[in-house]
Amino acid sequence: MSPREPLEGTNEVRRILQFYRDLGFKQIYRRTPVAISTPAPAEMKAISETIELPGLVPAGDTLDLIRADIGDCTRCRLCKERKKIVFGDGSARARLVFVGEGPGADEDEQGIPFVGRAGQLLTQMIEGTASKEGIPLKRADVYICNVVKCRPPENRTPEPDEMEICGQFLFRQLSVIKPKAICALGSTAAKALLGGKDGVTKLRGKWHKWNDIPLMVTFHPSYLLRPYNQNAKRESWEDLKKVLHFVYD
Ligand code: URA
Repeated sequence: MSPREPLEGTNEVRRILQFYRDLGFKQIYRRTPVAISTPAPAEMKAISETIELPGLVPAGDTLDLIRADIGDCTRCRLCKERKKIVFGDGSARARLVFVGEGPGADEDEQGIPFVGRAGQLLTQMIEGTASKEGIPLKRADVYICNVVKCRPPENRTPEPDEMEICGQFLFRQLSVIKPKAICALGSTAAKALLGGKDGVTKLRGKWHKWNDIPLMVTFHPSYLLRPYNQNAKRESWEDLKKVLHFVYD
């Protein structure tokens, strides 16, 4: 590319800038292109100027805009076998967001997250625990979504590139809703939101942060459905109580 070719406005530049933004750079500096053929002495001095990076979240973003941007997505291989994109379910004004891993078979059929066995357990946990704790809360009052929006074949764990590609939409969903707290269900959600390699056993029960929003990690409801995980069940209920009291007291 010639140094005089304008870069601004190209998708490629935007992509690169967003990459740097993801890495935590808030500003970058560029040298103003200098005329090469007949440089006047003053122009030869490179002038540095500050460019504000474009945000990952477009101004005026909404859940509807995010869903529209996802469209009939073919950004990763998960599109090949999915039946429905599972965007999210619940209130756009939710004070609490639950993030799971990715849709299973029932979710893929219906296009709604957490409606299968694990989902029924999650609903029961939310509504049952809230009711026992004297908190009037229904599933519809919270927001539920996943790291990846399409079902991974055989319910395998999403690959890092799939999580990264779809993660931009999760990032936007959370940024638009701005809940008081986030509850990450299982290690895939924890990894997507917190980074790092620690598993649920190490992370659960303590407060972490996602972009300044308090985040609790707990076991994924599918894990709790396994008969030998009684201890995990008890711990999950403890985690959920902590989250519910933090958000709704
Ligand atoms: N498991 C998940 O992680 N998400 C769903 O939506 C259903 C099952």
